Amino acid sequence: MRMILIGPPGAGKGTQAPKIKEKYGCCHLATGDMLRAQVAAKTELGRQAKKIMDQGGLVSDEIMVNMIQNELDNNRECKNGFILDGFPRTVPQAQKLDGMLEVKQKPLKHAIELQIEDSLLVARITGRLIHPASGRSYHKIFNPPKQNMTDDVTGEPLIQRSDDNEDTLKKRLGTYHEQTGPVTEYYRKTGVWTKVDASKEPGEVWKSLLNIMEGPQ
Ligand code: AP5
Ligand code: ZN
Repeated sequence: MRMILIGPPGAGKGTQAPKIKEKYGCCHLATGDMLRAQVAAKTELGRQAKKIMDQGGLVSDEIMVNMIQNELDNNRECKNGFILDGFPRTVPQAQKLDGMLEVKQKPLKHAIELQIEDSLLVARITGRLIHPASGRSYHKIFNPPKQNMTDDVTGEPLIQRSDDNEDTLKKRLGTYHEQTGPVTEYYRKTGVWTKVDASKEPGEVWKSLLNIMEGPQ
């Protein structure tokens, strides 16, 4: 599989992508998770990225493109393909990705847009809990962990992301419409773009994705 998931904060990219990884044995590259790992490791990049993320802005294209290029070139899990979650987020990032895949002669199979109204995202974002080490996400109401506030797999504590508050969400949504809207337009012109109604419950969204990835059954 070689695909990207595009959608606003809370659309369900991080909820669906691990299922795609499991089904196709490809790598799941979530640029937000990679940046949060840098923040946790207290690197210089992490220090700079945290400021930008907490303001709902975007980290530079150059940094993000290098990060993805490095994974696609060196991450063994990506030998079987990839699912990109959170990248590309700007048209220059999409163009660079096209360039990388052209060199590898491994074109994209799907660019799937998770469409959902902004008004539904506040509840999803403010109720989200994450397991920082794996990037697994839960929701206090819509997808609660089995044990209160702990990860189902490791039993480790779950936390809230520092950008998951209403104020930062507003800014993230503004950035999404302004900078990532044109990315969806970019892919609409290609043969790989499709959309999915991401307002449905997670199992329904998964069915729609399967339908696209496997073709109509
Ligand atoms: P990133 O981590 O990518 O955040 P995001 O795009 O804002 O997306 P989210 O992770 O908030 O949403 P999601 O779609 O994954 O939702 P989830 O499945 O968890 O990026 C963070 C920041 O890093 C950016 O703001 C930027 O600063 C920087 N960055 C990252 N990539 C970059 C790039 N390429 N260039 C520049 N900067 C970059 O679901 C949300 C919640 O809803 C969960 O609680 C979940 O359980 C629940 N849920 C999911 N699906 C459903 C459903 N169908 N019904 C009900 N609840 C649901
Ligand atoms: Zn995510």
